[in-house]
Parts: sequence; C-alpha cells; structure tokens
Amino acid sequence: MKIKAAVAVEKGRLEIQELELGAPRMGEVLVKVVACGICHTDTSTLNLVVPSPLPMVLGHEGVGIVEQVGPGVQSLREGDHVILSFPSCGNCPQCQTGRPYACETSSELFFNGIYQAGGTRIKNGRGQDVGSLFGQGGFADHCIVSERSAVKVDPEVDMKPLCSLACGAQTGAGAVLNLMQPKPGDSVVVFGCGAVGMSAIMAAKLCGCSAVIGVDAVPSRLALAKECGATHVINGKECPDIAAEVLGITGGKGANFALESSGAAVLVKPMLMSLGKEGRAVVVSFVGGSVDMDLTMLFVGSCRSLQGTVEGAANPQVFIPRLVEFYKQGLFPVDKLANYYSFDQIDQAFADSASGKTIKPILVF
Ligand SMILES: NC(=O)c1ccc[n+]([C@@H]2O[C@H](COP(=O)([O-])OP(=O)(O)OC[C@H]3O[C@@H](n4cnc5c(N)ncnc54)[C@H](O)[C@@H]3O)[C@@H](O)[C@H]2O)c1
Ligand SMILES: [Zn+2]
Ligand SMILES: [Zn+2]
Repeated sequence: MKIKAAVAVEKGRLEIQELELGAPRMGEVLVKVVACGICHTDTSTLNLVVPSPLPMVLGHEGVGIVEQVGPGVQSLREGDHVILSFPSCGNCPQCQTGRPYACETSSELFFNGIYQAGGTRIKNGRGQDVGSLFGQGGFADHCIVSERSAVKVDPEVDMKPLCSLACGAQTGAGAVLNLMQPKPGDSVVVFGCGAVGMSAIMAAKLCGCSAVIGVDAVPSRLALAKECGATHVINGKECPDIAAEVLGITGGKGANFALESSGAAVLVKPMLMSLGKEGRAVVVSFVGGSVDMDLTMLFVGSCRSLQGTVEGAANPQVFIPRLVEFYKQGLFPVDKLANYYSFDQIDQAFADSASGKTIKPILVF
C-alpha cells in the first residue's frame, strides 16, 4: 500500500515522501497511526549520533489502531488500540526471562531499520529499501510492527497524549519505578527535565519521595517540573555548584538516587557528587562526550554506584498498561508534556523540541 512518511534521507534532513509499504509478515501487524511523539532519540538518529543506515522512516512513539494482522499473530485483532513500543527478539535469554530491554539484538532492531522477521518493509519510488526506526517508523500514516512491541490499551482512553509512554515516559518512569525503587522519604535528583526527566519526577512523587529535585536550564521546564511533582528545582546553567545545592536541600546527606537524562556530559560529575552514601545514579541519555572521572574519589569511599539502562528496564507489555492506569487516576499526567502538530508541521515540531519550547511534540495524522 502507498503511505506518506517522514524519511531521514541524509544526516540532518527529513523529507516527507510517498512510499510503498509491504504486508505484515509472521507475528507482525499493520497499524493505522493516529499520532506519534518525537523523542530526543529521533533527533540523535537523524543527526547520526547513533550511526544508522539511511534512508529510514523515523518515529518510535506511535499510537494507533490495528488494521491488519499478519500470520501467527495471537495477541491482537483488527480494531485494537495499541501503543507502539520498542522491539525485541523474544528468543534470547533476557527476552525469555521478561527483560526485553536488554535483548541481545536490541541495537540492530532499534537502529538498523530492519525487523526481527528479517529485512525492511518499505520501498521508495526508486525501488530502494527504506528502513523503519525501532522496527516501527511511526512518522507515517501506517506502519508495520511486531506484535511484541504493540501494547493493547483501553479503547475508551484518548491515545494521543499517551505517545510518550512508548519510549520517553516509559524510560523516565521505569528508571525510577523499576531500577531505583525509592522508599517513601527518599530523595531523587533528576538532571534534564525533558520528557524522560519529567516522567521520572512524576514517578518519584508517586513513590512518596520527600525531596524530588529537577535540574534544567530552561525556566519554563523548571516551572513545569514543580507542577509535575518536583519539590525543588535548580537552574543548572546559573547555579555555580549543583552538588552543593543538592546537599543543602537534603540536609547535608546527598540524594539517595540521581538520574542523568540531559545528555550533557558536563552534568555527569555534579550528578555523582550530588549522591549521598550508597547513592545510586542511573544514566539513560546519550551523553554527548567522554567524562574524565576519578573512580576512587567518586565511588569507593561513598559506596556509590552508576548504572546505564535502556527503556527504563521495562517490559512494555506489562509496564505500559500500569502507566496508563496511573494516567487515568491522574497520578502520571503525561498530557502536561504534550503539544500537538499536524504531520506537515514536522520541521517546526523538531525545532520547538530543540529550542526547549515543547517538551513532547506529538504529530497527529
Ligand atoms: N536509554 C533509553 O532507553 C532512552 C530512551 C529515551 C530517551 N533517551 C535519551 O534520554 C535523553 C533525554 O531524552 P528527552 O527526550 O527527555 O530529551 P530532551 O532534549 O527533551 O531533554 C533534555 C533536557 O536536558 C536539559 N539540558 C540539556 N543540557 C543541559 C545543561 N547543560 N544544563 C541543564 N539542563 C540541560 C534540556 O534543557 C532538556 O530539558 C536523550 O539523550 C535521549 O536520547 C534514552
Ligand atoms: Zn525514544
Ligand atoms: Zn532478545
């Protein structure tokens, strides 16, 4: 079938093109895309920070309606409402034990434009193969995904505000709820209040943390961080010593947990130094650059630890429905992060994300 899609044609350049989408293969479904969020990882892929073969249809935070099921699909039917999350193989030891975020083949399935069942599903007007980011390519009116990455949701809920549950919000909330697991009264400091960081703040509030500290450089984001549950905010560009500020807020102890979701290498050391004894830091961002660290000074005496993660260590088939329930109860207000754009406003949507004006741009089809 013919589709309209936003294709990364070369580094930094997106083009809306008419393409030919094939049929869903074994275990796959064809989805009519209702809306798709823009995540910072789309920008990183477009700029080849993550090297990916082009041309490729970007977009990995789609929501939509199943239009056709391929052979062997068991969990979905035509008409189901779905949130389209990340792909995984289903066969490796991690997938077999419910940890698809650590799938052996995640790098290939995320960034090589190909599907688990093999190959690409799209061709352009010149007969050239076109990849689909995250085995999805959600910047299109239709896409094909594996049933493993399509999470069925309550058809009564308006799906458009929920795009970020597919990646950004899942990652931030998952970093807190799945990895940190703070106890009521604990403290969490979040570096970078984009969609990921803001979702981590909402999750930290849900856990009953006593201090939830947001660090960003955009004043409107700091204000929204407070609305989302931050008890304190710090302007990282103006504050001369962020770690000292966090120590002050936490009564001299330092934070129990810290999240790096800014992508700014310069914030990594202040983040580690904000942690107290046995403090744990989680990195989710693609930190742009290397960090020179004295490991003994930062980790040994303080018993701190540092962990990286993909997609907030979430199993989307289990975690996304939990987040939808929190959203319905008003406990996880991701709709506060969204601004809506028509598909032909995609360049504006990317520009507003880069300038800090919009936290979660959502393209509506
Ligand atoms: N590991 C994963 O699975 C995963 C999933 C989703 C996103 N990501 C990555 O997580 C990061 C965050 O994603 P996002 O969509 O929330 O991005 P975003 O660009 O919306 O948010 C980043 C925030 O950090 C702030 N920031 C940047 N530099 C700063 C500085 N020097 N001082 C203070 N604040 C600063 C920005 O103002 C912005 O609000 C990105 O690197 C993205 O690629 C990773
Ligand atoms: Zn993403
Ligand atoms: Zn796997």
